[in-house]
Amino acid sequence: MAAKRILLIIGGGIAAYKSIELVRLLRKSGHVVRCVLTRAGEQFVTPLTLAALSENKVYTSLFDLKDEVEMGHIQLSREADLVVVAPATADLLAKMAGGQADDLATTLLLATDKPVLAAPAMNVRMWLHAATQRNVAILRGDGVTVLEPDEGEMACGEYGPGRLPEPEAIFAAIEKALTGAPAASLLDGQPDFSEANHRPLHGRRILITAGPTHEPIDPVRYIANRSSGKQGFAIAAAAAEAGAEVLLIAGPVPLPTPPGVIRVDVETAREMAAEVEQGLPVDAAIMVAAVADWRAADTAAQKIKKDGSGAVPPLALAENPDILAGVARSPQRPALLIGFAAETNDVIAHAEAKLARKGCDWIVANDVSADPMGGETNRVHIVTPEGVDSWDRLSKDAVARKLMEKIADELDTRAPPESTHDAD
Ligand code: CTP
Repeated sequence: MAAKRILLIIGGGIAAYKSIELVRLLRKSGHVVRCVLTRAGEQFVTPLTLAALSENKVYTSLFDLKDEVEMGHIQLSREADLVVVAPATADLLAKMAGGQADDLATTLLLATDKPVLAAPAMNVRMWLHAATQRNVAILRGDGVTVLEPDEGEMACGEYGPGRLPEPEAIFAAIEKALTGAPAASLLDGQPDFSEANHRPLHGRRILITAGPTHEPIDPVRYIANRSSGKQGFAIAAAAAEAGAEVLLIAGPVPLPTPPGVIRVDVETAREMAAEVEQGLPVDAAIMVAAVADWRAADTAAQKIKKDGSGAVPPLALAENPDILAGVARSPQRPALLIGFAAETNDVIAHAEAKLARKGCDWIVANDVSADPMGGETNRVHIVTPEGVDSWDRLSKDAVARKLMEKIADELDTRAPPESTHDAD
C-alpha cells in the first residue's frame, strides 16, 4: 500500500505503551505518523519516545501549534488520511460522542473531515457501562470505526472485555480503513477553482523553504540573519496562484500565509531539514530560506550570565545540515531542484560554483551588495548548466510569477504531469 499519513491520538491509560509499538509498525510500512498525546497520555508515554519513533514532532497542547492564528489545528486534523485514537479511553470516547473540544486531541477530532478509527481500552466495568456503550453506538452511528476491545485479564486484576487490541490488530484495522480512504491532498479543505485544471501548475506539488532560521544559544538568545522571508513567501503565493499544491516550510517571520498555501513553521535548520524530508516527494523544490550555516554547538539550558570578571563566554559552533544538498542526494530528489544564493560579490561565479557543489538544477542568484535582504525588489540571474538568464530588477512578486512560468515550462519537459502523483 502507498504511504499514508496517520494522525495518532494517544489517550491516557496503562495500554498507552502499546501505541509505541503501533507507531513502529506504521513507520516500518512507510506511513507518515504524527502523534498527539493527551495530558493523561503524557503520564504513560513521553513525547520524546514518540518523537524518536515517529521521526516527527509530537503535539501535546493547543499551544504547540505556533501557527494557531493560521488555524493550525484544522490543518493538523486534515492533512492526515486517517485519524486513529489508541488507546481511546472511556473519557475520550465520551467527549468524542458529545462533540466536546476542550484540549488539542478533542479539538482535532471535532475539526477533522477524515475517517476516524478508535481502539478502546478501559476497565471491563467501564466498557460495559451503559454510558460507554451508548457513546460507542453514537460514534459508530456518526461513522467512526470503533474496534471491539480484547477480552482478558486487565492491569487492574479484573477479567473481561476492555483490553486494548494488540498493536498488530490495530495496525491491520488501520490498513483496512486506509484502503477505502481517499489520499489526503495537501490542499484538502481549500476552495477548488473551476478553472483550476487550466492553470500551468495544476496537479504539481511544490515545496518551498523561506525565511531565516534561528539557532538558540540559550533560552533567550539565538543566532540569526537578516532574511525577511518576503521572496520565499511571494514564490509560494505565485505557485499557489498557478494552481500548484504548495507546502511552505517557513523560518520565524511575521508574514501572513498566502492563500491556498500549506505552511509549516520551524525555527532551526535541523527542524527545517526534518520538515523538508517529511514533505517529499514533490515535483519541484525551491529552497529560498537563508539557512544558518552554523548553530551553537551546545545550547545552554539556562540563560548564560555574566560572571563579573569581564571574561567572555566561549561560543563553539557546529555546522548545520545542508538541506538543499541533502535533497539533491535524496532518492526522492524532485524533478526540478532550485537553490537561491544571495551574494555580495562575484555573483555569477559564486552561483555557478554553488550549482555544482549543491547538485541542484538552477541557482537563482541575487546581488545583495547594494540592496540588502528585506527590500521589496530583486535583480536575479537564473544560473543553470546551460547558461545564465539575467532578469531586470523586478518586484519580488514579479520575480516570483516569472519564476513560476519558467518552472511550469521546465516541469512539462522534465516530468510530464501524467507520470506523477500515483503515490502520496
Ligand atoms: N541552503 C540549505 N541548507 C543550508 C545552507 C543553505 O538548504 N544549510 C540552501 C539555501 O536555501 C539556498 C542555497 O542553499 O537555496 C544557497 O544558500 P547559501 O547560504 O548561499 O549557501 P551556502 O552553502 O551557505 O554558501 P556560502 O555561505 O558559502 O555562500
